Amino acid sequence: MEFIKVNKQYDKYVALIELNRPKELNALNLQLMGELRDALKDLDNDDDVRAIILSGNEKAFAAGADIKQMADKSAIDMLKIDQFSTWDQIRKTKKPLIAAVSGFALGGGCELAMTCDMIIASETAKFGQPEIKIGVMPGAGGTQRLTKAIGKAKAMELVLTGRFISGEEAVSYGLVNKVVPVEMYMYEALSLAKEIAQMSPIAAQLAKEAVNRSFETHLDEGLTFERKNFYLAFATEDQKEGMAAFVEKRKPEYKGK
Ligand code: HXC
Repeated sequence: MEFIKVNKQYDKYVALIELNRPKELNALNLQLMGELRDALKDLDNDDDVRAIILSGNEKAFAAGADIKQMADKSAIDMLKIDQFSTWDQIRKTKKPLIAAVSGFALGGGCELAMTCDMIIASETAKFGQPEIKIGVMPGAGGTQRLTKAIGKAKAMELVLTGRFISGEEAVSYGLVNKVVPVEMYMYEALSLAKEIAQMSPIAAQLAKEAVNRSFETHLDEGLTFERKNFYLAFATEDQKEGMAAFVEKRKPEYKGK
């Protein structure tokens, strides 16, 4: 892996992926995205991983797709490169995925953070969809996920002006879970990941899938989907363990079975 660093055991059951093109502010070139897709698939298949943190560095989570790589491309080149099939695979990650964002999260960087399940931001974070300033528009979900997260008026403002918002604003709009001082954002992301990693990993996967389904369907179908996943949870040993532990007034020991 040239452009990402993977630590499978950042903490017990918690893995960390760091985007690692610091000189380019972690601009997301095709190779980086391919590496990220492969790493997430690998972690998804690893029973010792129950939650994943995706971060950049203090200065940049990611300043967007690599403009230099795209600058001379034609529409047909872009169609053939089909970078979004990689993004689609990333979106299908089954395990809980937390973005730990400091500095720039712009364009594809903001879209990547929104592809994650939750976002912890540092006080220096800057979110934005500045593609309009370079003659294009968001292409990796920005017009859809940002609108669902913060509503039409603010999403329209960010997408049409390219303005940035701070971590504080992002929290107030519901884009981000929590904003903390820059020295704390990795600690905060880890605390959240550790808390989730204590749960049954199968229940977490089923629950994540059901929450995500709410973005893709209407209420009746979403409720049917939720119920099926709820019933499926009763096929796990973890469900027996969780409920027995409650009755016996002890801490559950989940095995992911
Ligand atoms: C390629 C980038 C880059 C990017 C920064 N760099 N962002 N290279 N693609 N998206 C490079 C710069 O060229 C420069 O390299 C180095 O990183 C440092 O950047 P500076 O501009 O010198 O830093 P600074 O003055 O601090 O400004 C930071 C910045 C600015 C405000 C984030 O770099 C910026 O505006 N970047 C572009 C943001 C953007 O438009 N993102 C959307 C991209 S389109 P050199 O070698 O010159 O020193 C997009 C589409 C997504 O994301 C949909 C498809 C997936």
